[in-house]
Amino acid sequence: MRHVILDCDPGIDDALAIFTLLAERDVEILGMCATVGNVPVDTGYHNLRNLAALCGRSDIPVFRGAQLPLVRPYAFDPLVHGEDGLGGVALPESDVPHEVEHAAVATCRLVREAPGNVTWIATGPLTNVALALRLDPTIGEKIDRLVVMGGSTARGNVTPAAEFNVWVDAEAWRVALSSGIRFTMVGLNVTHQVACTLEDYAEIKRMRGKVGQATNRMLSYYEAVYRREGWGEAKLHDVVAVLEAVQPGICGTVPCRVDVETASPLGYGQTLVNDRAAREEANCDVAMAVDAGAVRRRMLSAIASF
Ligand code: BDR
Ligand code: CA
Repeated sequence: MRHVILDCDPGIDDALAIFTLLAERDVEILGMCATVGNVPVDTGYHNLRNLAALCGRSDIPVFRGAQLPLVRPYAFDPLVHGEDGLGGVALPESDVPHEVEHAAVATCRLVREAPGNVTWIATGPLTNVALALRLDPTIGEKIDRLVVMGGSTARGNVTPAAEFNVWVDAEAWRVALSSGIRFTMVGLNVTHQVACTLEDYAEIKRMRGKVGQATNRMLSYYEAVYRREGWGEAKLHDVVAVLEAVQPGICGTVPCRVDVETASPLGYGQTLVNDRAAREEANCDVAMAVDAGAVRRRMLSAIASF
């Protein structure tokens, strides 16, 4: 049995990734944590609780995490996911009692208590991850793998250099990459190959369950943003990272040396991926290929299963 901790910033593609994860068999989710990112952390925490409840999984503890990146200020931009993070799709309010433990503290505890075989997934900025690794650096050794959506081997999406999750908190990436944890990077170079097609939309529109109907409404918003901004088809970034974590091999990875730019104003948040590094210098398995059809099929069957 694989044990999973999910750290995220929901976010529409985070929501799709959560549905995909919650439908997986042979996975026990120890906890889900919200971080600052697509939306302020209070909004992300609220969404995360309601998304879990929508899937009938209010039993999974949900924790509120970092309000601000480690070093830089945070400026909320509602462009991609809307003011509420879910494209204006209101979900029923979860009525489970609130957890009071901070996400970073809870993560350290959950890892210490787990019987082993823990996969840590992050689909938002790495602020909570870095805080947890600083609170208890030994958790890195107890975790099988940290699988992260973020970065790129080529250009970014917020600036020519930087992908959003790294750009929000590049210092946190530096903490995680230098911690010695087994780190898998699922960046834009692969997630840009995985988009929702017209057939996928048609299939989602036919779904009658609550999760399928919420997905349909969220995706209408997300797809309209992509179309309006000229970004092509709506990309399923976070779904790819979740599936690589629970179905290792859905991405083809290469051991690389990854460094993150934190000093240059123009290059802040750039991931510099050296795929020619000597084995002993490699600090990251970088996704270089993806089975896009398998990711889309798995996500669709997950959403239909609720
Ligand atoms: C990443 O940024 C966010 O907007 C998405 O949720 C995804 O995690 C893609 O750059
Ligand atoms: Ca995200």
